[in-house]
Amino acid sequence: MDVARIREDFPVYHSDEEGLVYLDSACQTFRPRQVMEAMARYYDLYPACGGRSVHRLATQVSIEVDEAREKVARFLGASAPEEIVFTKSCTEALNLVAKGLSLKRGDTVLTTDMEHNSNHVPWLQLQSTLGLRRRFVFTPASGLFDMEAFKQAMSRDVKVVSMVHTNNITGTSVPVKQVAEIAHDYGAMVILDGAQAAPHQRLNVKDIGADFYALSVHKMMGPSGMGALYGRMELLRSLQPLIVGGGGVSLTTLEKADLLPPPERFEAGLQNYAGIIGTGAAVDYLLSVGLDEVAEHDARLNAIATAKLADVPGVSILGPPEPRARGSILSFNIKGMSSHDVAMILDEVARVMIRSGMHCVHPYFVARGLEGCARASFYIYNDEMDVDTFASTVSKVASKFSM
Ligand code: ALA
Repeated sequence: MDVARIREDFPVYHSDEEGLVYLDSACQTFRPRQVMEAMARYYDLYPACGGRSVHRLATQVSIEVDEAREKVARFLGASAPEEIVFTKSCTEALNLVAKGLSLKRGDTVLTTDMEHNSNHVPWLQLQSTLGLRRRFVFTPASGLFDMEAFKQAMSRDVKVVSMVHTNNITGTSVPVKQVAEIAHDYGAMVILDGAQAAPHQRLNVKDIGADFYALSVHKMMGPSGMGALYGRMELLRSLQPLIVGGGGVSLTTLEKADLLPPPERFEAGLQNYAGIIGTGAAVDYLLSVGLDEVAEHDARLNAIATAKLADVPGVSILGPPEPRARGSILSFNIKGMSSHDVAMILDEVARVMIRSGMHCVHPYFVARGLEGCARASFYIYNDEMDVDTFASTVSKVASKFSM
């Protein structure tokens, strides 16, 4: 990976002479100028609405929205662009599915115990409003997905298996293809939260066997306020929209409304056209770097960081010790320190930016009696120097403050 060359595309690296050590891409990635330029072209040249008016500016917007949808569809290996719904976040995509599935009282939803709140709170809500049942696959001490526990948790009353593909705490991944096969054998549908997987690895939703796959665009170098949902067409046709109104219907009378086919029925209201166009540009950018190269680069940096921190007194790494099992994520604690203090000190003394706290996966920490963790996450614009600065600063902080 030619990081110096990649950094030329990221204006943020040229706005700060002292140098940033940004290791918080699992929260949000930086964006390359190609994405900003695509969005600026919308605002500069055709700032009209798509899918409605028929004048030339609106037509240009509609064409670009269609192109962005095709790019996301190809990126995910969907059968058709119509299987892609644009949303404002991965959270909205997961809420759309959970609330639109028309599940019934007594249906069981199986998740892991490491779901982000976006794949946990909607089910909790449905548990109390609808009487859904929950079941969990618990993460063992190894930190790896427990396939046997999953098999034991499956039964015919499980209607939905909804799981995080790669979790945002330890970076471990669920073997989603095998999970989907088993879930389908029991007649359950499979929803995957791909927020932390899609930016880092090559994906094919058909090969995985996902029925729904949700994305967070701002974690893959695209604009804020954008997410996307892949849904198998047959299932999208019976999914109820979360938001209804103009743009989502073909004809309404005073008595009834006819919904448009997917995906339009899920995109009522004026859309974030710049965001959608920027999403297409982000996909282009990611593909131009190459997903296999991204995965290899992340893993290499994580391996270097892990080796440097493995024997530092007071530092404990969450999840499997083997860095390859943790993708781009290295979460840790320093004995006797709060994760927020660790994060603030790293920023203060060395401009190292990481995330701290419970990372929206509260049940994982509560069950383990932890107040949170510090998390470094690596991406294409990070280099070995970033890793050195991070690891040496963590070592110094641990030797000074660890109790
Ligand atoms: N879920 C995002 C993270 O893990 C925001 O940081």
